[in-house]
Amino acid sequence: SPSVSFLGDDGLENPFRRYSTVAIVGAGSVGSTLAYTALVRGAARRVVLYDVNAPKVKAEAADIGHGIEFIPQATIEGSDDIEICRDADIVVFTAGAKQDPGQSRMELAAKTVGLVKKVLPTLVEIAPHAIQIMVTNPVDVVTYAAQKLTGLPPSQVFGSGTVLDSSRLRFQISRECGVAVQNVHAYILGEHGDSEVPMWSSASIAGVPLLEWLGADGEPVFTDELRRRIGHDVVHAAYSIIEGKGATNYAVGLSVTRIIEAVLRNEHRVLPISTQVAGELAGVGDVCLSMPTVVDRAGAGARLAIPMSAQELNLLRSSAEHIRQAARQLGF
Ligand code: 2OP
Repeated sequence: SPSVSFLGDDGLENPFRRYSTVAIVGAGSVGSTLAYTALVRGAARRVVLYDVNAPKVKAEAADIGHGIEFIPQATIEGSDDIEICRDADIVVFTAGAKQDPGQSRMELAAKTVGLVKKVLPTLVEIAPHAIQIMVTNPVDVVTYAAQKLTGLPPSQVFGSGTVLDSSRLRFQISRECGVAVQNVHAYILGEHGDSEVPMWSSASIAGVPLLEWLGADGEPVFTDELRRRIGHDVVHAAYSIIEGKGATNYAVGLSVTRIIEAVLRNEHRVLPISTQVAGELAGVGDVCLSMPTVVDRAGAGARLAIPMSAQELNLLRSSAEHIRQAARQLGF
């Protein structure tokens, strides 16, 4: 009779080791929710959570683990020993200072970069082939610092960028036009933060340019006023959520899961992640910010120079300048 061996015969002590491992650094609300969403979506077969707070990280892993029966086959482990991240395929860095109500992401820079300096070299040493995804804010400055500190190829270290902001934008557009969010193509580019830029001129709804989308009355729906309001709501989304519940966690968990899927499934998916731009946009260089980027098993690939209006390009340049200054202040 055919024999089905679940444990396999690869000689590895841990039967799950031959599956991809996602290591999440930081078991706060973002790290723990990411572990949960990645497992529920079946994005990762083995998730390990690392945090210096032993009771917290063990409790988060146990709580998620007790639901494994109801989701795709997977394992979850939590530890305060960084060794748990060894040989991970992806390391997601979510640890860092918590944003208080009214505080901007940039205000967290010094503290977070200090933490990255302390922890990242060990992570690179024990998981040298991992794709390093930075999530902690201010993510663009953190990503730039991480690249400089590790010297890894830019494809291997990138930031979650404006994947979340773009999904917030698409959500709002979807509500206004009454079409599923999956049919909306629109990007927020630049900083993941106050200077981010909605790219209205290239936005489209099921192939119809957004600026030409008409309502039932035959009039354009996305007027200057509506675009201003949506842009404002997207930029302030995190502020209002933090005001209401102290942190954002669900949508960021899902958007980083999307990035993990693009990497582990070698999808060549275009996502607005934060990478170091290298002069493909006039006046924008030597800084990490979000551009639509091909993501696959090799990490961050080609950046797409999507068409932009002169105003959008100017805003993107200011956004780059804003990030560059913050990085400079920290000596990068
Ligand atoms: C967010 O945009 C705070 O960066 C976090 O939800």
